Amino acid sequence: TKILVMHGPNLNLLGVREPEVYGRTTLEDINRNLIEMAQAAAIQLATLQSNAEHELIDRIQAAMCDGTDFIIINPAGLTHTSIALRDALAATQLPFIEIHLSNIYAREAFRRKSCFSDIAVGVISGLGAVGYELALRFALESSH
Ligand code: DQA
Repeated sequence: TKILVMHGPNLNLLGVREPEVYGRTTLEDINRNLIEMAQAAAIQLATLQSNAEHELIDRIQAAMCDGTDFIIINPAGLTHTSIALRDALAATQLPFIEIHLSNIYAREAFRRKSCFSDIAVGVISGLGAVGYELALRFALESSH
């Protein structure tokens, strides 16, 4: 089993960025925890954070032929705008979970629209860093 975890724009700033909204856990903390969980389950897990939409798209395209079984993605600000990132995920036909640290329905109106939710296996929003652990648990159970 091979799982890909993707983090969109500005998530490199986790821990210092609006901590009242996004928490104090850093992206490194989140990734380290997921890698430990993957190691305990003897599966492969790759992570990528990028501020560049094209890098995320290129990585998703690469997942079509590198044996990836499942994608966990927080598209961050691109959630609300990126038809291109959605198209890339649709092209792979790989199952994915859409995840947000904050509850996107309890914030500004423009965050309520997602380009991804209708083609995701499921969506986790508002559970902070724990949401990633839950997403990985699901991915592990559904891809073996
Ligand atoms: C986010 C929510 C988005 O609206 C925002 O643009 C982000 C992070 C979240 O994890 O809560 O960058 O995806």
